[in-house]
Amino acid sequence: MSSNQLDKKSQAWSALFSEPMNELVQRYTASVFFDKRLAAADIEGSLAHAEMLAAQGIIAPEDYAGIQRGMAQIRAEIESGAFKWQLALEDVHLNIEARLTQLAGDAGKRLHTGRSRNDQVATDIRLWLRGEIDLICDLLRQLQGALLDVAEGHVEVILPGLTHLQVAQPVSFAHHLLAYVEMFVRDEQRMQDARRRVNQLPLGSAALAGTTYPLDRERVARTLGMEGVCHNSLDAVSDRDFAIEFTAAASLVMVHISRLSEELILWMNQNFGYIRIADRFTTGSSIMPQKKNPDVPELARGKTGRVTGHLMSLLMLMKAQPLAYNKDNQEDKEPLFDTADTLRDTLRIFVEMIGGQPHPQTGVREGGIAVNAQAMEAAAQKGYATATDLADYLVKKGLPFRDAHETVARAVRMAQEQGCDLAQLPLATLQGFHPGIGQDVYQVLSLRGSLSERHTVGGTAPAQVRSQIARHRRRLQAA
Ligand code: ARG
Repeated sequence: MSSNQLDKKSQAWSALFSEPMNELVQRYTASVFFDKRLAAADIEGSLAHAEMLAAQGIIAPEDYAGIQRGMAQIRAEIESGAFKWQLALEDVHLNIEARLTQLAGDAGKRLHTGRSRNDQVATDIRLWLRGEIDLICDLLRQLQGALLDVAEGHVEVILPGLTHLQVAQPVSFAHHLLAYVEMFVRDEQRMQDARRRVNQLPLGSAALAGTTYPLDRERVARTLGMEGVCHNSLDAVSDRDFAIEFTAAASLVMVHISRLSEELILWMNQNFGYIRIADRFTTGSSIMPQKKNPDVPELARGKTGRVTGHLMSLLMLMKAQPLAYNKDNQEDKEPLFDTADTLRDTLRIFVEMIGGQPHPQTGVREGGIAVNAQAMEAAAQKGYATATDLADYLVKKGLPFRDAHETVARAVRMAQEQGCDLAQLPLATLQGFHPGIGQDVYQVLSLRGSLSERHTVGGTAPAQVRSQIARHRRRLQAA
């Protein structure tokens, strides 16, 4: 950094400063190396502001034309990598404005009329975040679609449903996957809800108190496709609750991803052997030749901590900040950027890892998780998963549920002692527990019988599961 640039910086503020900025302080306070990522949003916001200034007669039409020409060139320079970012110019806003003034002269100097970096940066983050939310919602829908594709082919595949990680009742594998679809639907709704509050315009709030120029803020909001304007200038330049909301919603997505990851990791374990994931999502071991490790779900589980950490950073950043803008807020960007990047990459990988890739001709996805139905079903045969069904059967024969529960517990104990399943006990033995038990009990004790009986809305009966898949498909198609 030349001393010439340092001097320029001290003069960027005004003649008020008697010495150039300390070099370490300059690096400490600069944000350009991360906030240059907001350049496209910054230019979009500036053009909307300039258009309005011209429409209101605050700047001349020629000035607006000069600003447009200059910004087009700056955009091209940034895209090609030719743009010279300068630390001495602190942030993305001052870098772009300085270059605009080089290119457009006084027109460039007029752009900042009725504006401050405080309302400018708040606008930029919102524009950028709005785009990220749209990408993330699209990925969340793709992930729902991938889960539905796998579910559709495995409605009749049965695995042991667990509570406390112990065998509880048999469930359809599709039903299990649909549980995650529900989570990702709510995640998408949370993102959409946060978007409404992100998509409000701070510009026109100026530094903190509004401005003396006759701005048309609604016009700028319309140009930028925003839903409305922020109604209090102090609030608009200072609060970052919209970023916190997004990061909270992102943390929940990651928490859901981490739950799914944990299950994928278990299911891949040799003692389960329920699924395989494609080799391109696993890694080997440098010492154990037989290993294929589920690094992707493990990392996703780990990155959940990282994103949740960003949520804590942003909450603490905002805590106890007095009105209005404070430089603390410059620290909002890195956690926010990293949250969006981590979430996007994770979702992209999961869409393909679960659902595979669409076939170039048919569009049908292939190469997603491979399901070992026999292994799942064999596991469901262990652990007396249909004991509740037997209790329900006895209730239908007139026994109070508590008594039925006790009776079945005794039957399970006997089966355990004999090292067999309930369905392997002879009818006469079962009748010893209750005389009302008939031959039809074996259907009740079967995995398929158990499943098909659970046809309450949201239950695991195959007919229910199919109708839930159809409902989700209609919803995704309508979107
Ligand atoms: N780089 C700053 C930020 O990210 C822009 C706003 C600076 N405003 C100020 N008054 N220093 O928050």
